[in-house]
Amino acid sequence: MGCLAVMAGWPLKRWLGLALVMLHLVTLGCALPKEVKSKVGEKVGLPCCHEIPSSESLRNYRVYWQRNSREVVLAYSQGVKISEDNQYTNRTELDSKNLTLWISPVEILDNGTYQCVVQNLRISHDFSPRVVCDAPVSLSVTADFSEPNITSNVINTTCESTEMVVTCSSYGGFPKPKISGFFNNGSLIWNTTWVSESSLSPYNVTGKLHLNVTKDINLTCSVEYNGFVKSTSLLLTKTNDCIAPTMPPSYNVITATSIIFIIFLLAITLAARYFPRHACFHCSKNQDPMDEDEKESMKPPTISKTTSETSSV
Ligand SMILES: *[C@@H]1O[C@H](CO)[C@@H](O)[C@H](O)[C@H]1NC(C)=O
Ligand SMILES: *[C@@H]1O[C@H](CO)[C@@H](O)[C@H](O)[C@H]1NC(C)=O
Ligand SMILES: *[C@@H]1O[C@H](CO)[C@@H](O)[C@H](O)[C@H]1NC(C)=O
Ligand SMILES: *[C@@H]1O[C@H](CO)[C@@H](O)[C@H](O)[C@H]1NC(C)=O
Ligand SMILES: *[C@@H]1O[C@H](CO)[C@@H](O)[C@H](O)[C@H]1NC(C)=O
Ligand SMILES: *[C@@H]1O[C@H](CO)[C@@H](O)[C@H](O)[C@H]1NC(C)=O
Ligand SMILES: *[C@@H]1O[C@H](CO)[C@@H](O)[C@H](O)[C@H]1NC(C)=O
Ligand SMILES: *[C@@H]1O[C@H](CO)[C@@H](O)[C@H](O)[C@H]1NC(C)=O
Ligand SMILES: *[C@@H]1O[C@H](CO)[C@@H](O)[C@H](O)[C@H]1NC(C)=O
Ligand SMILES: *[C@@H]1O[C@H](CO)[C@@H](O)[C@H](O)[C@H]1NC(C)=O
Repeated sequence: MGCLAVMAGWPLKRWLGLALVMLHLVTLGCALPKEVKSKVGEKVGLPCCHEIPSSESLRNYRVYWQRNSREVVLAYSQGVKISEDNQYTNRTELDSKNLTLWISPVEILDNGTYQCVVQNLRISHDFSPRVVCDAPVSLSVTADFSEPNITSNVINTTCESTEMVVTCSSYGGFPKPKISGFFNNGSLIWNTTWVSESSLSPYNVTGKLHLNVTKDINLTCSVEYNGFVKSTSLLLTKTNDCIAPTMPPSYNVITATSIIFIIFLLAITLAARYFPRHACFHCSKNQDPMDEDEKESMKPPTISKTTSETSSV
C-alpha cells in the first residue's frame, strides 16, 4: 500500500528528480520484493516484515497474508484464523512469532507475489489499528524438467558435409524454459516450441536445429528455467560419404582376396594329402615295381639286415 502511495505521488514529485523518488522507494522497502524460490512438493516459508516481541502475543495483532494485493490467503485476528483461501486449505501455517507463512506442499499455482500486512490492535491510528508493516514477497515456483533427450536425423549427406535435423526435448517442468546449446565452442539458436495447458501448468519443450556438419561435433542442449539448468551432450559424427563409393570395391577386393586365399589353402591341404602318395608311388615305381604294401612289409627285414651287417663289420 505504501508502495502504491509513493507511485501515485510520483508525478507530483517529479521535479524533485528521480533520485528522490528512488530514495522513497528504497526507504519503504518496496524497490525489490524479497524473492523466495521453491520447488513443487517442497515446504516453503515466506518471511513477514514483523517479529512479535516476546512481551506481546499474536492476540494483539491482525495479520493478513495476501496474494496479488487482493486475495486473502490466510488471515489471523486476535490469535484466531479468520480467513483461508480454498486453494490453500490444509497447506498453510502461520508462525506465531515471526509471522512467516509456511506453505507445504508447494504447487505451481502458488507462484506469485504475496504480501504480509500486520496491524497492531493495541495502537490505533485515526480510529483504526495501526499498520505495523506491509511488505511484498515473491514466490517463484519451479518444477524440474526431465533430462533433455537429443535425437538426430540425417537428411542429406554429401562428400563435404552431413545435413541433419537435431531435436532436443524435455518435459514436465516450470516455468517456461529457454533452450540453449553449444557445439564445440559455438552457440546455437534452437527453433523452440512450448506446450502447456495454461501459463501456470507444466511445460513440454522441444528445440529443433538444422545443422550442416563438416566434422564430428560435440553438441550440448541445455534447458534453463528459473536459474536451474538441465543439460545433455551428444557426439554427432559426420557420416562420411566420400569413402562410401570406394568402400564397396575395397570390400570386394578383401572378399576376393580372402576367397582366393581360402581356395589356395584348400588346394595346399588337398595337395599335402595326395601329392606325397603320388610322389612315392612315382619314385617307388622307378626303383621298385612292388606294391606299396609289399614294400612296406619288406622294409623292416631290410633295415635289420643292414644293422646286422654293420654290427658284423
Ligand atoms: C521464523 O521462525 C521459524 C521458527 O519458528 C524459523 O524457522 C524461520 O526461519 C523464521 N523466519 C524468519 C524470517 O525469521
Ligand atoms: C483438511 O484436513 C482435514 C482434517 O485433517 C480434513 O478433514 C479435510 O478433508 C482436509 N481438506 C482438504 C481440502 O484436504
Ligand atoms: C511467478 O512468480 C514470479 C514472482 O512473482 C513472477 O515473476 C512470474 O512472472 C510468475 N510466473 C507466472 C507464470 O505467473
Ligand atoms: C528419446 O526420444 C526418442 C525418440 O523420441 C525415444 O525413442 C527415447 O526413448 C527417448 N529417450 C529418453 C531417455 O527419453
Ligand atoms: C543433397 O545435397 C546435394 C548438394 O547440396 C543436392 O544436390 C541434393 O539434391 C541433396 N539431396 C537431397 C535428397 O536433398
Ligand atoms: C573457438 O573459438 C575461437 C575464437 O572464437 C576460434 O578461433 C576457434 O576456431 C574455435 N574453435 C572451434 C573448435 O570451433
Ligand atoms: C521453426 O519451426 C517452424 C515450425 O516447425 C517453422 O515454420 C519455422 O520456419 C522455423 N523457424 C526457423 C528459423 O527455422
Ligand atoms: C508433456 O509430455 C508428457 C510426457 O511425454 C506427456 O505425458 C504430456 O501429456 C505432455 N504434456 C502436454 C501439455 O503436452
Ligand atoms: C552445407 O555445407 C556444404 C559445404 O560447406 C555446402 O556445400 C552445402 O550447401 C551446405 N548445405 C546447407 C543446407 O547449408
Ligand atoms: C561434450 O562436451 C561436454 C561439455 O562441454 C562434456 O561434458 C562431454 O564429456 C563431451 N562429450 C564428448 C563425447 O566429448
